[in-house]
Amino acid sequence: MTTHDLPKGMIRAPGGLGPHEGYMPGFGNDFETEALPGALPQGMNSPQKCNYGLYGEQLSGTAFTANPPERTWTYRIRPSVKHSTRYARIDLPFWQSAPNVVPDVTSLGQYRWDPVPYTEERLTWLTGMRTMTTAGDVNTQVGMASHVYLVTESMVDSYFFSADSELLVVPQEGRLRFCTELGVIDLEPREIAILPRGLVYRVEVLDGPCRGFVCENYGQKFELPARGPIGANCLANPRDFKAPVAAFEDREKPSTLTVKWCGQFHETGIGQSPLDVVAWHGNYAPLKYDLRTYCPVGAVLFDHPDPSIFTVLTAPSGVPGTANIDFVLFRERWTVAEDTFRPPWYHKNIMSELMGNIYGQYDAKPKGFVPGGMSLHNMMLPHGPDRNAFEGASNADLKAEKLDNTMSFMFETRFPQHLTRFAAEDAPLQDDYIDCWASLEKKFDGTPGRK
Ligand SMILES: [Fe+2]
Repeated sequence: MTTHDLPKGMIRAPGGLGPHEGYMPGFGNDFETEALPGALPQGMNSPQKCNYGLYGEQLSGTAFTANPPERTWTYRIRPSVKHSTRYARIDLPFWQSAPNVVPDVTSLGQYRWDPVPYTEERLTWLTGMRTMTTAGDVNTQVGMASHVYLVTESMVDSYFFSADSELLVVPQEGRLRFCTELGVIDLEPREIAILPRGLVYRVEVLDGPCRGFVCENYGQKFELPARGPIGANCLANPRDFKAPVAAFEDREKPSTLTVKWCGQFHETGIGQSPLDVVAWHGNYAPLKYDLRTYCPVGAVLFDHPDPSIFTVLTAPSGVPGTANIDFVLFRERWTVAEDTFRPPWYHKNIMSELMGNIYGQYDAKPKGFVPGGMSLHNMMLPHGPDRNAFEGASNADLKAEKLDNTMSFMFETRFPQHLTRFAAEDAPLQDDYIDCWASLEKKFDGTPGRK
């Protein structure tokens, strides 16, 4: 991205190199950036008067006393309190929050969907969000929701923030731009973005139509998983996460700000763009990450490790080792294990697994799980390779093989995921999904040595 690409009137800080112009590297870093020289106070947060007549304001993503605290100091044209008047409830019927247990919808089952199709309807980030599943309770900040977005229109003089959640965005088609209070993130398939709770932004279409997935995290923020015996490298490396440099617009135009708060949506009118942060410093910021920089680690002799080996990000639940959400990536890799059934084994878990296909073919399901499609294997429901995958992998010549052209992911949570009415009735559910296991044969006949 280069400066001339920015929205008209937006002024951005210098920073970043080459393809990363406009971004600063490092997950959880304490960044500092200013779009005008001298706008950022040095050596203190709250001078008696800020340069340029800016207002100092802190955005806290954790309790003050959390360890470590996550917060960002902003220096802005107006304090945020001037970015709202009274709030009025509005209805966004397809964006649901937990608890959303629909009495006549059965969430107990193995489910798979074709891609949710685009329609003639013009949809923005707000009207195009389609909730598939919810888990936990948004009011107690526990659990998550999974969504598909279909976006064809930019938000114009319209802004949004979620007080409920951090959003993990996984594009599948099209390019989006997130103009946020803290800077601009351009996002395309094979990248992800993390939008923190409370951050105000506007979403524009760079290349449409746009479809993708969102994991809405009600709980503690995503962090990098502990690598344990893997050591200091591989999986997702902190330097590959990029925060935007400061960018602001000084635009006085009647606008709306929509707020998601305890599962409800409210709108307020304002006279200007709220993207007026001229400088900021802190460790609470939006991030983007290129999934192609994820370095997978796996079995190099025999057997198949648990999929946790492919965790990109994890959001803790308070129970050590038991995530509120794990974001897991199944990307291109070599399979080399000897005398091994290489695809995922049959299993049932306490965790509930929602998968999405970004592109290509997934090894446990050669057919039916298509780019843009999703599957759900809920708490304690058995699943595993379909018959074709089982027979193929059981009889394969076990030479080193590159799994190419494949990128799928999983939003896994410790809580059961409940289907929305949209997921059960409007989305293209594959009624015959369960049949993919129906033709698995009984091979046992009591004969020793039979394989
Ligand atoms: Fe699974």
